Amino acid sequence: MAPYLTILALFTTISAASAATGYKNHTVGGTAGWFFNSTTNTSATNYSSWASTQTFNLGDYLIFNTNSNQSVILTYNKTAYLNCTPDDSDNDTSIYSSLPDGFSKPLTISVPLTIVGLNYFFSDYSEGVQCQRGLAFQIQVQRGIGLPPSLNQPPPPAYIEPPGPNSAESPSVTVPETPNSGAFANRADVCVVIYGLGVALVLLKSQYW
Ligand SMILES: *[C@@H]1O[C@H](CO)[C@@H](O)[C@H](O)[C@H]1NC(C)=O
Ligand SMILES: *[C@@H]1O[C@H](CO)[C@@H](O)[C@H](O)[C@H]1NC(C)=O
Ligand SMILES: *[C@@H]1O[C@H](CO)[C@@H](O)[C@H](O)[C@H]1NC(C)=O
Ligand SMILES: *[C@@H]1O[C@H](CO)[C@@H](O)[C@H](O)[C@H]1NC(C)=O
Ligand SMILES: *[C@@H]1O[C@H](CO)[C@@H](O)[C@H](O)[C@H]1NC(C)=O
Ligand SMILES: *[C@@H]1O[C@H](CO)[C@@H](O)[C@H](O)[C@H]1NC(C)=O
Ligand SMILES: *[C@@H]1O[C@H](CO)[C@@H](O)[C@H](O)[C@H]1NC(C)=O
Repeated sequence: MAPYLTILALFTTISAASAATGYKNHTVGGTAGWFFNSTTNTSATNYSSWASTQTFNLGDYLIFNTNSNQSVILTYNKTAYLNCTPDDSDNDTSIYSSLPDGFSKPLTISVPLTIVGLNYFFSDYSEGVQCQRGLAFQIQVQRGIGLPPSLNQPPPPAYIEPPGPNSAESPSVTVPETPNSGAFANRADVCVVIYGLGVALVLLKSQYW
């Protein structure tokens, strides 16, 4: 009985751990989505209240179910958030919008969380009125298990000089197709062999002459 309980406890621990390590997608506003009603001048729900029910980690996504009447601005600049205006010169701000496509087009906007700390979201449409009247929230992003490789941009690969015309002009440095297959791999080997032949000749000479 005791071993059985131990195994059960272990299994429970493992499944709890794997549930806690996955990345999550958070549907912003739940079923209300990301909407502003310009007749009533109100947002579809209280996004601050919604955010307070969630735990956000690196690598999670925010899913905005919306239409082209709202925009999604992500900024790490609190001033831009409080002003409800994205600063174009500000590299801390990302703009997700589709204004040229016209109004009321259904949209799903997925935003990955890639920076720990305060992340601010708002819509800047209607000259900031949407944002001022509730289409805005802030979240605290935690490290969690860190970014997945797909969101963790690797540095560009080291530059490798492509084979130029010079390589064709020096056929004496030929690389054998299968190294160590008996062919001379490089000039040093050839020198050793030539030196060896010379020594052998000297030995032969001293023996017979
Ligand atoms: C979460 O959203 C991203 C981006 O839209 C998507 O690639 C991924 O499959 C989603 N993951 C889950 C578990 O729904
Ligand atoms: C905005 O609110 C009004 C009044 O509640 C409602 O009649 C209208 O359908 C709403 N508009 C949208 C786009 O949800
Ligand atoms: C909506 O609210 C803003 C202030 O936040 C106000 O300037 C505007 O006139 C209001 N619009 C309507 C349709 O009530
Ligand atoms: C939204 O909810 C927060 C608490 O989560 C509250 O402080 C705030 O006043 C609410 N905003 C509105 C417009 O009701
Ligand atoms: C934040 O945005 C404001 C304007 O919205 C700008 O003046 C300020 O320089 C920005 N701060 C940083 C650190 O980019
Ligand atoms: C924004 O630009 C400043 C100054 O060029 C730089 O120090 C900072 O790392 C940049 N931030 C991001 C998020 O790229
Ligand atoms: C979108 O905005 C346009 C222009 O303001 C308005 O006519 C339309 O009713 C809005 N649609 C929705 C779904 O809010």
